[in-house]
Amino acid sequence: MEYIVSCAQAPRGKNTITRPEGLDTNFDVSGMVDPDGGLIDRRIFSDPLIYAQEQRRIFARSWLFIAHDSQFEKAGDFFQTYMGEDPVIAVRNKKGEINVVLNSCRHRGARVCRADLGRTKNFTCTYHGWAYDLDGELVSVPNETYYDESFKREEWGLVRVPRVESYKGLVFANWDENAEPLEDALGDMRWYIDAFMDRDPAGTYVVEGVTKWVLEGNWKLAAEQFATDWYHVTMSHASALMILSPTGKGPKKEIAERKGLQFSDAHGNGAGFPVHPRNRFDAQPVHEYYDYDFLRERLSEEQVTGPLTNGHATVFPNFSYLPVNGSIRVWHPKGPNKMEVWAWTVLDRSMPEDVARAQRLYNLRTFGPSGVFEQDDGENWSECQANAHAFMVQNTTLNYQMGLGSATEREGYPGKTSELYSDEAGRNLYRRWRELMNTPAWHEEFK
Ligand code: FES
Ligand SMILES: [Fe+2]
Repeated sequence: MEYIVSCAQAPRGKNTITRPEGLDTNFDVSGMVDPDGGLIDRRIFSDPLIYAQEQRRIFARSWLFIAHDSQFEKAGDFFQTYMGEDPVIAVRNKKGEINVVLNSCRHRGARVCRADLGRTKNFTCTYHGWAYDLDGELVSVPNETYYDESFKREEWGLVRVPRVESYKGLVFANWDENAEPLEDALGDMRWYIDAFMDRDPAGTYVVEGVTKWVLEGNWKLAAEQFATDWYHVTMSHASALMILSPTGKGPKKEIAERKGLQFSDAHGNGAGFPVHPRNRFDAQPVHEYYDYDFLRERLSEEQVTGPLTNGHATVFPNFSYLPVNGSIRVWHPKGPNKMEVWAWTVLDRSMPEDVARAQRLYNLRTFGPSGVFEQDDGENWSECQANAHAFMVQNTTLNYQMGLGSATEREGYPGKTSELYSDEAGRNLYRRWRELMNTPAWHEEFK
C-alpha cells in the first residue's frame, strides 16, 4: 500500500520574522567538483560553510528517507528521526496517512517527542505543556486565558513537511512542496530497487528497532561509497572475505574478479552489482529459501543475475542499501566531520521465521555496528576524515577518474551503466550535489 500525504503548506506566511541579509550566504561551488574530469576538491568534506549550505540546498529540498511503512501499523504509531539535522516525527494519523512534522515546539523550541518510537494519542511538550495532535495541530495550551484574543491555536501547529510519499514500503519526505514526485526522482533506479524490495508479492517489513552508531566522517563518504565503490571490497574486506570463504583463504579468483555493472543517473542515484548466472544470497537458509526461477518470472533475468543479491546502492542524498543482507541505512549528517548511521533489516513478509532469523543475524554479523564488513568501512571513512581539515591536505585534489566515459546504454538494464569497477556513480552523485548547491531552493524565495 502506498501512503501519500499531499501538500500541507508549512505555516510560513504567518508568524514569520525577517532576518538580515548575509546570515545564509551561499557559495558557487562549480570549481570544487569536476564530474567530467573526475576531480573533487577535498574541502567539500570538511568545510563548515559548505556543510551549512548543504543543509539548506540539499537536505531542505531532496527526498529524504524517513522509515519503512511497516513501522506505522496503527494510528498513533510514531518514529522520531532527522531530515538533515532537523528533528522530525513521522506518525500515522487517524485517517491512515503518515504525517511528518518538525519535532520542535512552537513555544520555545523544545522537542515535543523524545522517545525513539512508540504509539501515542498526542505529543505533549514537557516544558510548558503545549500539546499537539497526530496532525501536528496545537490542541491544548495550559493557562490559555493569559493570552489575549489575537492568539489563535490553529496558527501555532507543528510545522508539517508538505510532501510524504512512499515506494515499495520505503517512506520518503521532502520539504519542497513543488518537488517532483518521489517516483520520478527515483526514475530508472526503481528497477534496481525492485530487485531488492519487490521479491515477495506479500511485501516487506523491517525488524523492530533501529541500530544506530556514530562515525567520524562526512556523510558523503558513506553515501558515495554505497553508490559507486565495489573497488574497495577485495582490499578493505580481505580479512572478512577470508573468514567467510569455505577454505579460509578468501574467495576464489573467479569470485574476487567478478564482472558486473554500475548504474547511475542525473538524480545522483547509484547502484553496483556483480553479474553472474549463479549469484546467490550469502546466508545459506536464505539462499535455499528463494526460488530463483519464480523470481526470474516475477522480476527479470537481468535482475536475478544482477542487483537481486550482491551489490550496493545509494538513493541521493543519504539513503543506502545492501540487498544481500537486507540492510537499509541513512547517513545522518552531524556536522562536517561526523555522521550517525541508522540501520534497519528488511525482510520479506513470506519468509518463515528461521529464514528471517538467519538473514537478520547475517546482517548483524556483516553490517551491524560491529559487523566484519561494517567495521572496515567505518575505519576507512574515519581515516579519510582524520586529516581532511589540514591545509595542504585540503588543497590536494582527489581522483575520481576510474571508468571515465564508460557509461552506456545496455539492453535489459534501465538507464546508463558502466563497468562495476568505476567512479561513474560517484561522479554523478557529485554532479547532482553541485547542481543543487548552486541552485536557489524553494525557501529562498521567502527572503
Ligand atoms: S517549549 Fe514547549 S510548551 Fe514551552
Ligand atoms: Fe565496504
